[in-house]
Amino acid sequence: MIFLEPYEVLTKVYKGGAHLKIALSSLPAGEKGRTVKLCYAALEHDGYLNLCLASIAKKKPQESICLILKIALAAMLFADMVPPVVVNEAVALTKHIGKGGAAGFVNAALRAFKKENVILPEGEEGLAIESNFPRFAIDALRKEYGDRVKEIVFARSHGVSVRFVRGMESYLGREHLDTPFENVKIFKNFVRDEGFDRGDYTFQSVGSVAVCEAIEPCGSLLDACAAPGGKSVLLSDKCVRVTACELHPHRVALIESYIRRMGANNIDVLEKDATAFDPAWEGKFDAVLCDVPCSGLGTASENPDLPLRKNEGTMSELEALQRSILTNCSRYVKAGGSLYYATCSILKEENDGIVQAFLGAHPAFSAEGISSPLTHEKTPFGLQFLPDRAFGAGFYIAKLRRNA
Ligand SMILES: C[S@@+](CC[C@H](N)C(=O)[O-])C[C@H]1O[C@@H](n2cnc3c(N)ncnc32)[C@H](O)[C@@H]1O
Repeated sequence: MIFLEPYEVLTKVYKGGAHLKIALSSLPAGEKGRTVKLCYAALEHDGYLNLCLASIAKKKPQESICLILKIALAAMLFADMVPPVVVNEAVALTKHIGKGGAAGFVNAALRAFKKENVILPEGEEGLAIESNFPRFAIDALRKEYGDRVKEIVFARSHGVSVRFVRGMESYLGREHLDTPFENVKIFKNFVRDEGFDRGDYTFQSVGSVAVCEAIEPCGSLLDACAAPGGKSVLLSDKCVRVTACELHPHRVALIESYIRRMGANNIDVLEKDATAFDPAWEGKFDAVLCDVPCSGLGTASENPDLPLRKNEGTMSELEALQRSILTNCSRYVKAGGSLYYATCSILKEENDGIVQAFLGAHPAFSAEGISSPLTHEKTPFGLQFLPDRAFGAGFYIAKLRRNA
């Protein structure tokens, strides 16, 4: 029953609020390619599939049936599966989950589906549906970048970004793109092998590498929001000692295993809340990085489940958290030291907006210019990497100097 696994994964995502990548990672190893493809297709086209559903069902069916229909429609429209197979599989799944009474409806609705009956709204609403971006983000990006909004929201990941530590040459026979960073390549396909466990390479977005490159070497660095640990590990190459903190215990474990795999030996890992002041750390660090929790909209093409969790309400909560982390952690920077603020967001509110408010309230800090070899926009306070010009990666970094 080929729709059963996608159904189980997507139930966790839609109903349980699970992250797609985490839900997929718990599948048994082996052939899961089709499940991955169907789950991505359903989520990337969620808004459009809702319109499709409305075109075949006068009254919204119950959740489980909606999900079966979405998977079936995604399979037909975006995964090249032929309608007779799709209908049979959808009906079989409906019976399997104990909803046999709805099997006739599922059968008839799928047979009645006609693409031409689906009408995409015009303007920004249609763009939001087609691009799988929340409407509020479309409005914000339009205001900031005008017509370029379309290039930004339709930009796709260029492949798997791999940062090599050693042995890169043996992988370069495969199709790949060079990046401005000599040891970072983007592969169309890259299946993890034993080199990963040996720490010969790691998977790290070119945008995340660009953020680390913009950070100056220093003695002591605090990475206040460090899990899963990609930046802490890369920064440990150029800082004498890194202190990597994280709020959630299960994510602290991710940092520890990342460090172990990559063989870094100058990182201290702590479970710690970056919003709670620790007097023992006042003025203690040469540099502090606040790579704060954010909307993640700079990596939306890799995480099509993001829009399910982000709306204007969650955004204002996130912005309050970002302000609180930056304000608290600024107290840990010694006089003359640096405070870095980073996100994987492309929204001004989470980036320059947070930095501007912070600087307004903290005259001891001032913004400093930084540069990057990765294509970026210079903003009033930092650098913005945008997905359409930076290999699909949307990241932000600002550097602030503590003057006294
Ligand atoms: C953007 S991610 C960091 C990515 C990481 N720097 C890397 O490159 O691998 C933000 C992290 O902050 C953590 N976090 C959220 N609230 C926090 C808090 N109050 N204190 C510390 N960490 C927090 C999240 O659990 C998440 O792991």
